Amino acid sequence: MGIMSKKEEKTIPNSVKHHVLITGGSSGIGAALASYYARPGVHITLWGRNEARLQETARKSQEKGASTSILAIDLSNAAQAVQALIEADNINPVDILILSAGMADIRPAGAKTETSETALQMSLVNFATPVAMATEAASRMAERQTGRIGILGSVASFHDLPLATVYSGSKAGLGRFSTALRAAMEPYNVKVTLIAPGFIDTPMSQRLEGNQPFLVPVDKAARQIARSINRGQAKLVFPWVFQLTRLLEALLPSAISHRILRALDIMQHPPEN
Ligand SMILES: NC(=O)c1ccc[n+]([C@@H]2O[C@H](COP(=O)([O-])OP(=O)(O)OC[C@H]3O[C@@H](n4cnc5c(N)ncnc54)[C@H](OP(=O)(O)O)[C@@H]3O)[C@@H](O)[C@H]2O)c1
Repeated sequence: MGIMSKKEEKTIPNSVKHHVLITGGSSGIGAALASYYARPGVHITLWGRNEARLQETARKSQEKGASTSILAIDLSNAAQAVQALIEADNINPVDILILSAGMADIRPAGAKTETSETALQMSLVNFATPVAMATEAASRMAERQTGRIGILGSVASFHDLPLATVYSGSKAGLGRFSTALRAAMEPYNVKVTLIAPGFIDTPMSQRLEGNQPFLVPVDKAARQIARSINRGQAKLVFPWVFQLTRLLEALLPSAISHRILRALDIMQHPPEN
């Protein structure tokens, strides 16, 4: 993809050859985004750990006319992930990088905190690796004066969640990084989009027992996310009602909001594989 004019930059035309690299492409939002972008002329690189599910996403993308590559990789190793990104980008420059991979383990039933092992793993997968990958991609895209980076945060980042201290903390860090990187990239025609969803119907949310208000079907979520990345929008928070919960928590004294949040009682099943 060459340098886009100011007008073209608003939406990326379908006819342009793209390379879209998606982490978390083996499941949920990442897999749905692959399906959204899949069409002739588009190459989709899919990363995840589960090779069988990566192949399934790739097959569906190929049925829609896209070419695909898959990489089974554990994102808890940030150095390896950056190296793999460099190799992929050297072969075929990445036009759109979507960092969707993430984990969301909450405090085990009866425990006072998450385990320290989970805390470390989640910090790497949800924060350290996406930050390192986005930094490398941004530097390369800035040289080319074009590119899009979509980063999956969460509305959990707006709240002090006692059940999910590491999840909400890692997503809050990612959110600040994302908007700061956007500011740094502004002069270079590289647009960084922070996506902060509420509940989306994916294997991640299906592990949770209990009420999931305003649950969004994954294909609908993927359409909204992809359009905001294509437009180069700064932030997408959806469903909009979570803007209100954010405002409410900001207005309440923390002694009160923390008491309310401590009363949240959510159970989580182990992942399927
Ligand atoms: N679903 C929601 O309600 C919701 C709400 C807000 C934000 N989000 C965020 O949206 C993103 C996508 O979530 P989702 O709902 O699509 O979840 P999902 O269906 O559970 O998918 C998670 C993806 O992350 C990958 N992943 C997890 N740990 C990994 C690791 N160590 N190395 C490499 N890949 C790893 C998984 O790969 P494998 O399965 O191959 O291991 C999978 O492709 C996450 O960042 C999540 O925090 C989701």
